[in-house]
Amino acid sequence: MTTNLENMKQNKPYRLSPLQEQSVRELKRTIHRNPELSWKEYDTTKLIRKTLEELPGIDITDSGLDTGICAVLTGGRPGRTAALRADIDAIEANEEYSSDCVSGSPGIAHMCGHDFHTASLLGAAMLLSEHRDEIPGRILFLFQPAEETTTGAQALVKTGILETEHAEAVFGLHNRPEVPTGQVVVHEGPLMAAKINFRILVHGRGGHGSMPQKCVDPIVCASAMIQGIQTVISRNIDPLEAIVLSVCSIHAGTPDNLIVDEAVMTGSMRTFEPAVEARALERLRRIVDATADAYECTAEFIIEEAVPAVINREPMVSLAREAAKKVLGEDGVVDSAPGLATEDFSFYMQKVPGFFYWLGSGTAGEECASWHNSRFHTNDSALRYGAELLAQSAMEFLNQPAS
Ligand code: NI
Repeated sequence: MTTNLENMKQNKPYRLSPLQEQSVRELKRTIHRNPELSWKEYDTTKLIRKTLEELPGIDITDSGLDTGICAVLTGGRPGRTAALRADIDAIEANEEYSSDCVSGSPGIAHMCGHDFHTASLLGAAMLLSEHRDEIPGRILFLFQPAEETTTGAQALVKTGILETEHAEAVFGLHNRPEVPTGQVVVHEGPLMAAKINFRILVHGRGGHGSMPQKCVDPIVCASAMIQGIQTVISRNIDPLEAIVLSVCSIHAGTPDNLIVDEAVMTGSMRTFEPAVEARALERLRRIVDATADAYECTAEFIIEEAVPAVINREPMVSLAREAAKKVLGEDGVVDSAPGLATEDFSFYMQKVPGFFYWLGSGTAGEECASWHNSRFHTNDSALRYGAELLAQSAMEFLNQPAS
């Protein structure tokens, strides 16, 4: 009799065949040439569907969303369900990196490499389909639309698909041009920031500029709020914690000689730790309310967008490290400082344990352009690692005894 532990020890990574690797590269190139913006990924979705339909053992499930697609592979042995996610959308940008594969849509380009993620997950689907008889459980494939607007993951989570398909873990990756191809970042703790975008409306009472005593000037009140907000980080947050809190716009008034009724400000906050975010938000609301009161105004504080942080925790970190070692070798697994960019993968992590990798996609000795830069590009040689890593992550989870 073979125990789960022995299975795990024998659990060698599935490797893409040269033919499979070739088709993964072709898929990435096709998607790269035909970039589509968030919620408009119709052709990308069609291509993913067509590719999945050709893979034995994989059933498409209707998520009910306009774009994106989900599918389930049922393994030959009973077990739990692991989800694998890729985002599929492009951004508004002009591609300036010249190669034999460039965007065919002016002003739209895959400058965040979601084409790379989509092709990687399709490669993982090829591998897992090929070895489906050995798989102890099920794999849920999430090809998610609209990551760039941070609305896709929320929409997919709201469909209830994680519950319907009984997903118990989720893995995802983002390419990382600063890390060479052949390496992967396995980081424990916060990896990508939480974001809160807010709007503050300050209501006063307008009137003639010569009679300020008859008015309540919202611009003066808004100015005091901006000053007060600066003290949140300097006086209320542990200096060793990472946080950005900025008022990014203020709009009020006309060139005429009058005091206006309303001032509108927008701003953004980024944090890693939920407790830091909660404390800063508490102070922000208090400063807005109390300052409005002090200046005889009223104010509304509106959260317009909120994305949680991507935080990798045990036991998923150990699983991910094991998968990464098997695919890229001990030397291929590296650590890195977290970044303050956001990633809506965090919405899945609120539902089920998850792990998020940064997979090296850079080329040593070559120009390295970051995400969303017009010269951004990913190394096609890294695609196979993306496919193998996602497949292995699912296997690592499914081969664990259920706790
Ligand atoms: Ni991205």
